[in-house]
Amino acid sequence: MKRRLETEMLDVLPADDPAAVASRRDLARINAVMRQSAILAGALRTFAQPHVLLDLGGGDGRCLLAAARRLSWRGVRAVIADRQDIVSAKTRTGFAALGWDCVVRQGDVFDAAATMEWGTLVSANLFLHHLDDAALKRLFALLAEKAIGLVACEPRRGALALLASHLVVLLGANEVTRHDAIASVRAGFAAQELTALWPPGWTCLEGRALPFSHLFVARRYGI
Ligand SMILES: C[S@@+](CC[C@H](N)C(=O)[O-])C[C@H]1O[C@@H](n2cnc3c(N)ncnc32)[C@H](O)[C@@H]1O
Repeated sequence: MKRRLETEMLDVLPADDPAAVASRRDLARINAVMRQSAILAGALRTFAQPHVLLDLGGGDGRCLLAAARRLSWRGVRAVIADRQDIVSAKTRTGFAALGWDCVVRQGDVFDAAATMEWGTLVSANLFLHHLDDAALKRLFALLAEKAIGLVACEPRRGALALLASHLVVLLGANEVTRHDAIASVRAGFAAQELTALWPPGWTCLEGRALPFSHLFVARRYGI
């Protein structure tokens, strides 16, 4: 299946549109079914605890919070970079209870990547697939300047995930989610596609993460 990008409805709906609010709730359920926070946490804990964890396209922050709860890290600053500032007071309280500081950086991820501090660990959940290869290459070059690593958990582009994306209706997903789930899989990744776009000289691991995901981990050499 060839990679195909199309605009996702959640990216263009206003944050307070009822369909967008409902779709964010669907996304939390889908993240749970896909085991996204467990997969992310498993890869994040292969790094030493960072001072700053920058979550690209972090949305409402709930997925990162669920991953943070699986880690034994304290005193991390979680920077949630997203076009929309939609992290609730409850989610912020959840981070605070873990001893984490949660900051929203509203705007484009490219600005967040260009201005992050040296030694930042970067995460992305269901975000990289929004970008075409040229944009990914540009983003990766920016991240590689200052990050110690990237952990990204994305849709796997393949028959099983595509079938599952048609079944989100069984989770009660609304029209926005039903559209975006299928679009996400078509724009997802397979093989070593992300490694091929990352700058040379890093240690990269990439592959299937069951049941429906594609995990990419880039690590600065020697870290
Ligand atoms: C599928 S959602 C995933 C949200 C979150 N990571 C999660 O797992 O719930 C993708 C997110 O990327 C954000 N987004 C898309 N393009 C962006 C960009 N260029 N810069 C910043 N955020 C972006 C959207 O606003 C949305 O919140």
